[in-house]
Amino acid sequence: MTGIEFNRIGAGTRYCAVLGHPIRHSGSPAMHNPAMAAMGLDWNYLAFDVHPDDLRAVLAGALSMGFIGLNLTVPHKLLAHGLVDHLDRSARQWGAVNTIRFEGMDSAGNWKPVWQFDGTGEAPSARRMHGFNTDADAVVRAIREELDLDLEGRSVLLLGAGGAGRVAALRLAAEKVARLYLVNRTLSKCESLRSEIAGLFPGVEVHVGYPEKSTRLDLIVNATSLGLREGDPLPFDASQYDPGNAANAYDMIYQPVRTPFLRIASDAGCRTANGLGMLLYQGVAALEIWSGMQVPDDIMRRALEDHIYRAS
Ligand code: ATR
Repeated sequence: MTGIEFNRIGAGTRYCAVLGHPIRHSGSPAMHNPAMAAMGLDWNYLAFDVHPDDLRAVLAGALSMGFIGLNLTVPHKLLAHGLVDHLDRSARQWGAVNTIRFEGMDSAGNWKPVWQFDGTGEAPSARRMHGFNTDADAVVRAIREELDLDLEGRSVLLLGAGGAGRVAALRLAAEKVARLYLVNRTLSKCESLRSEIAGLFPGVEVHVGYPEKSTRLDLIVNATSLGLREGDPLPFDASQYDPGNAANAYDMIYQPVRTPFLRIASDAGCRTANGLGMLLYQGVAALEIWSGMQVPDDIMRRALEDHIYRAS
């Protein structure tokens, strides 16, 4: 064998997959397959590079082929929101779908996971795609578990107001942070995010720009893509804010394990965590949604860490 693991596949094996464009970097198969095996499920988790123009056809094909469900990653999360048949509250609230569960209708008229129709008994009278968002809750869970920080009443500086930054800002506001400072290269995105939060969560104080230098912060979050590539500038301007005045720093980036942002923050005395937990917890929640079972998140974490950091 040359590093490729053999997964037993039979005619009864059921499938999940992650769709993205590109997809080669995805750690999702590496974390889901060992968990599914440990749960005693004859399931396999695959990865497909799907162009956005093909997404509608691929979703319909996976539904027809009896797939259990799908994960969506960049650039499909917004597109999928408009393509599924039914939106869970999480998907409606955060405006993006990263998890689809395929469902069938039983003879009593109830929707249930399509994998529960095993092909030998009753066939579903109808099928549908049910969209969820497990990304938003994963941010909060990662911060709570890895930084030991409950967000209610806290002051947070959020760097980045792109796709990930927007969902994080809304989710932090839903968690009742007291104060949010929004910083982004394109200022207009901060302004529209501020209006969105003011409408949905009027109790949260939102500022565009850095706090005063001496302001104590509970948390700085990097939700920009800066740090992914070697030589990237820092995601924040150290002349505007001293991270020594913040207690915690969270970087959504998980590769490298210690990003330049986290290095500077930890040198300044912050407690730090990288984005691996977010990736892990969105996956744990997706597997819970598909299976309805307790998921071994320790196995998923070990598999993911092994996959991402083994080579580095
Ligand atoms: P994602 O879905 O991962 O959030 P995105 O929506 O493209 O991806 O957002 C990328 C984030 O990184 C944005 O906040 C982006 O700033 P802009 O909104 O101004 O584009 C930020 N970003 C990317 N490259 C940057 C750079 N060179 N300097 C500053 N910010 C950058």
